[in-house]
Amino acid sequence: MSKTAILEIDGKKYEFPVIVGTENEVAIDIEKLRGATGAITLDPGYKNSGSCKSEITFLDGEEGILRYRGYSIEDLADKADFLEVAYLLIFGELPNTAQLEKFENDIRKHTLVNEEMKSILEGFPKTAHPMGVLSSLTSALTAFNPKSVNVENEKEMYDAICKTMGKFLVIATWTYRRRMGFPLNYYDNTKGYVENFMRLMFEIPTEPYKMDKRIVDALDKLFILHADHEQNCSTSTVRIVGSSHAGLFASISAGVSALWGPLHGGANQAVLEMLEEINNNGGDVAKYVLKAKDKDDPFRLMGFGHRVYKNFDPRATIIKKAADDVLDALGVDDPLLDIAKQLEKVALEDEYFKSRNLYPNVDFYSGIIYRAMGIPVEMFTVLFAIGRLPGWIAQWKEMRLNKEPIGRPRQVYTGSPSRAFKEINQR
Ligand code: SDX
Repeated sequence: MSKTAILEIDGKKYEFPVIVGTENEVAIDIEKLRGATGAITLDPGYKNSGSCKSEITFLDGEEGILRYRGYSIEDLADKADFLEVAYLLIFGELPNTAQLEKFENDIRKHTLVNEEMKSILEGFPKTAHPMGVLSSLTSALTAFNPKSVNVENEKEMYDAICKTMGKFLVIATWTYRRRMGFPLNYYDNTKGYVENFMRLMFEIPTEPYKMDKRIVDALDKLFILHADHEQNCSTSTVRIVGSSHAGLFASISAGVSALWGPLHGGANQAVLEMLEEINNNGGDVAKYVLKAKDKDDPFRLMGFGHRVYKNFDPRATIIKKAADDVLDALGVDDPLLDIAKQLEKVALEDEYFKSRNLYPNVDFYSGIIYRAMGIPVEMFTVLFAIGRLPGWIAQWKEMRLNKEPIGRPRQVYTGSPSRAFKEINQR
């Protein structure tokens, strides 16, 4: 691979360095493009543009490969637990037993949320979407933790990380408890992180909560599968908000809002709603595949397609197997799973989807499992956010420690040329 790329504009040649990544990805470094040529690049949706160098996650969309810090998603989902993977993403190495215990205990020190946060929560109507409430509560955490993080100070950074991991999980479940009119639960420091999620969500004061290890294990795996995904929409949001040196809670709050969108993390809720609509309309999957192909119909097959994966999303493969296992273990026979499998089969044999490399993504099957676990559909994207939190933290930390410049893209102006002001009586 040559070390430079040549660009010719108006007969003049310009040379730019070529950067090659660990897995031989090739990038043209255009940091000096505008200064040298007066020109910028234009790339709506950044389909061809890299925003940063990163050591956290590698994915190969053509091969369907996903690795966190070099470890395959298959190995991590099979052999690690969520906090172990969170540690790996944030600190760069798999923790030993002592490090993992310390991390878990240090998170436990920050699982109490300021009681005054409850009055903010009560300000929302019970019908408010949990993702909107979560984004607001996450931002509100800044009011109770006003000291901005000195990222250069290792202890301050570590405490901010543990505080975020501890408090985010609690307020995420509060969004559900508020919606249901249930009393708010507190983290139980004698139990694990994912066990606490189930308790915080479903434990009611009138009877002991019966933990189902099969659900905890499946959820732990699902959180791992959602933990990071390089520069996706919400992670890029966290990085660009953090690049202005806004605090960690404010940056994560922005990431929650970006994830909410149905084209991104909100797709897991949209998939379930789509499957329910198909089921309620007689289960005619072919009709919906036709709708998805019809350019005049805004309907898209939710849970299908991906900006990067032009092959199977490796997470979807793992989740599809987990869906079978969890439903089998719980003795749940969900017609929506059968519809999802039919939809996948019909779509993958259809030229429209094959020619566009549209495969099921991480959101296609996850909702089926959440539903079998008794998670309400409006909480699906909140679970995505809980899984993605360590990735957002890791990426924010890397961006700040690398002293990356404030994110400020340019544009091509296509509006009116200069014109004289007109008084109102002349318009
Ligand atoms: C996530 O980036 C990440 O890593 C995200 C994520 C993560 O872990 O952070 O992986 C999580 O967000 C997964 C994606 C969840 N979203 C959905 O399932 C929503 C449905 N999918 C699409 O909206 C779409 O596939 C996107 C948004 C995921 C990707 O869109 P792109 O890359 O911008 O592709 P595109 O919209 O330009 O589509 C290319 C073509 C178009 O047709 P043509 O104009 O070429 O004729 O494919 C078609 C699109 O119309 N197409 C679909 C489709 N997705 C793309 N047609 C029908 N159904 C779909 N789902």
